[in-house]
Amino acid sequence: MTRIIQLSDIHMVEQRMLAYDVVDTAEYLAHAVSYISDLLPKIGPVDGIVITGDLTDHGRQAQYDRLKELLLPIRLPLCVLPGNHDDRDVMRAAFSEQLWKPENEMLNSHVQLGDVHVLALDCLVSGKSHGLLTSETLAWLENELAMLSGEPVIFALHHPPFVTGIGHMDAQPLHNAEELLQIVSNHRGPKMTICGHIHRYMTSHQPCGPVMIGPSVAHAVCPDLTEDGASQFTLEPGGFLLHSYDSAIKVFSSHYLPVGPHSGPFPF
Ligand SMILES: [Fe+2]
Repeated sequence: MTRIIQLSDIHMVEQRMLAYDVVDTAEYLAHAVSYISDLLPKIGPVDGIVITGDLTDHGRQAQYDRLKELLLPIRLPLCVLPGNHDDRDVMRAAFSEQLWKPENEMLNSHVQLGDVHVLALDCLVSGKSHGLLTSETLAWLENELAMLSGEPVIFALHHPPFVTGIGHMDAQPLHNAEELLQIVSNHRGPKMTICGHIHRYMTSHQPCGPVMIGPSVAHAVCPDLTEDGASQFTLEPGGFLLHSYDSAIKVFSSHYLPVGPHSGPFPF
C-alpha cells in the first residue's frame, strides 16, 4: 500500500506576521504537523507529502525557510509545486534538492512515492492569480507519461481544472484546463488529479477520473455559491488529505482528515 499526505495552501508568513492581518498560518501548520506526527503510527507507513501550492503568502526566502523548519518533525519525502502566491525562482532555490524538470524553466517534477508516480506541474503565471500550463510543461508531461503506460499516476497542480461554483475563485481559473484533462484522460493506468487554490475540500468526477481539491490547514475560502458572492475566508477547521493506492487491486482512495481541537476517541 502506498500512502501519500496532501497538504495545500499553507501561506507561510514571517515571524510576527499574519496572513491578511488575521491568520497565524505558522501556528496552523505547527498544529497540523503535531497532529500528523501523532497520527503516523496509526496510518503509516506514509511514503511522502505532496504540497499543492501556495506554500508561502508572498514567495519570500524567509517564508520558505520557516515553512521547511516547521515541517522538519515529519521526516518524509517532500514533493512541492508552486501556487500563485509563490515565487518560482525563490522556491527553486529553497527546494534545490527536488529534481526540477526541465531545469531552469518551470518547476515541474516527477517524484516516485512508493508505487505511485507523482507528476507535479507548475501552472504559476508570475504576478497573476489565474493558472496556465505552458506548452513546454504539457509537452514535458506527455513525454513523462509515454514512459509510464499502465503505471499509477497522481497528477498534481495548484489551480483546479474545473468550475467550483465559488465565483471569485472561478474568475481566476486554470486557463487551459481542457488540455490537461485530455492528457490525463489519455493515460492508461490508475490515476487521480489533486490540486489546491480553493482552500477547502472538494471533488469533481471528471471523465478522466476524480479531481480533488485538498483543503488548507489554515483559512478556507467561504463556501458562497451565490452569484457575485463576496471574496471572504473563514477559520473553520482546516485539514489535509490522505491518499492511498492499493497495488493489488490498482485502486486509489482518499481520506479527508480535519485538523484542530476535537474530543475523542470514545469506544463504540
Ligand atoms: Fe492559496
